[in-house]
Amino acid sequence: MAGFSDRAKAIKPTGIRRMFDLAGDDAIQFGLGEPDFQPPKIAIEAFHKAMLEGRNKYTSTGGLPDLRKKIAETWHHIEPELDETSVCMTMSGTNALLDIFLAIVNPGDEVLIPEPYFPLYPPDVTICGGTPVTYPCKFENEFVPQVNDLENLVNEKTVAILYNFPSNPTGATVDKKQRDDLISFAKRHDLWIVTDEVYDKIVYGDDHVSFLGAGYDQVIMLNSFSKTFAMTGWRIGYVLSPNKHAMEQVTKMQYYVTACSNDAMQYAVLEAMNNASDYPNTMRDEFQSRRDIISRRLNNMDGVSCHVPKGAFYVFPKIEVKGLTSEELAIEMLSEGVLCSPGSAFGKSGEGHLRFAYTIPTSEIERGMDRVEKVITRLRNSDLQT
Ligand SMILES: Cc1ncc(COP(=O)(O)O)c(C=O)c1O
Repeated sequence: MAGFSDRAKAIKPTGIRRMFDLAGDDAIQFGLGEPDFQPPKIAIEAFHKAMLEGRNKYTSTGGLPDLRKKIAETWHHIEPELDETSVCMTMSGTNALLDIFLAIVNPGDEVLIPEPYFPLYPPDVTICGGTPVTYPCKFENEFVPQVNDLENLVNEKTVAILYNFPSNPTGATVDKKQRDDLISFAKRHDLWIVTDEVYDKIVYGDDHVSFLGAGYDQVIMLNSFSKTFAMTGWRIGYVLSPNKHAMEQVTKMQYYVTACSNDAMQYAVLEAMNNASDYPNTMRDEFQSRRDIISRRLNNMDGVSCHVPKGAFYVFPKIEVKGLTSEELAIEMLSEGVLCSPGSAFGKSGEGHLRFAYTIPTSEIERGMDRVEKVITRLRNSDLQT
């Protein structure tokens, strides 16, 4: 009888989308996780030129060799052995994530996922027949997971742990010592590390600390040009690993998911990498000044505490308003014309938080924060009266 798979039925739409559906057109937009920039002009021109030159065909599954070589080279400072066979081009980080789980997860396997999480992680594990098991990234630890908490969750079914630094939604990063402890944990239990580093170019102050190049070869990275070159709508990313066996299996999965990535676009990305390599730094500097404004504004509000994020472009403040779920609080924000995401969209432990993406100009951030302050003051005052 015609019906739907248990897998499709088990997966719910994300709580982020729901807010979009409820928002009016004039709401101040803290909802979207995408840079408010355009890709470098030379990349757009190269894209157009490549199409005119007939680059409109299937490519090999792994992608354009020159681009893969270039990507591998950008990681040579920490992993000098990488070459083009260490990279598989995909049609986004989202596509890359699915390829990786398809390659390493068997039905019944467990995968450790950070919570709060990027909302695709648990459903992607489920789609591949596995069970997502979340581990806590607590506010009091600046959202960095503690190995003690991980030890309690691992068992003979656990095959992988996913790390995401800089993090969506928390903006957390790790230092080298924390990274090494997290790698040792995976090594001790013979787990794959799936490392989502799509925000590696948006790190403030210190250098990005990668899970690559730290002496463990069971590491598979997903990455993307969505955030690096503001190409969210282009849908292009990659999987990279020093582990040749992993790359063989992932590339095979990529073939069956989308056959290959986009032909002309790969020339455009190569052009951006070759001739607009400073572009991500310019964007990062702009995000950094916005980050300073939004975290200062939030921390100056009664009942709000907010870690100053060290990477990505999100703040994830804790907001003390009695009796409201984070979704109800986000709806109160909407009534004042502010679109943000409820913390619960990123897992249960996101309750009590909201996520604001600072992907709008500073004047809009200031205007939005005036409204946020008004809502919180109103709700807290009515709180005190009851
Ligand atoms: C943590 C994280 N990983 C992966 C992605 C997927 O990015 P894309 O599919 O645009 O490459 C996103 C997008 O927001 C993200 O925040």
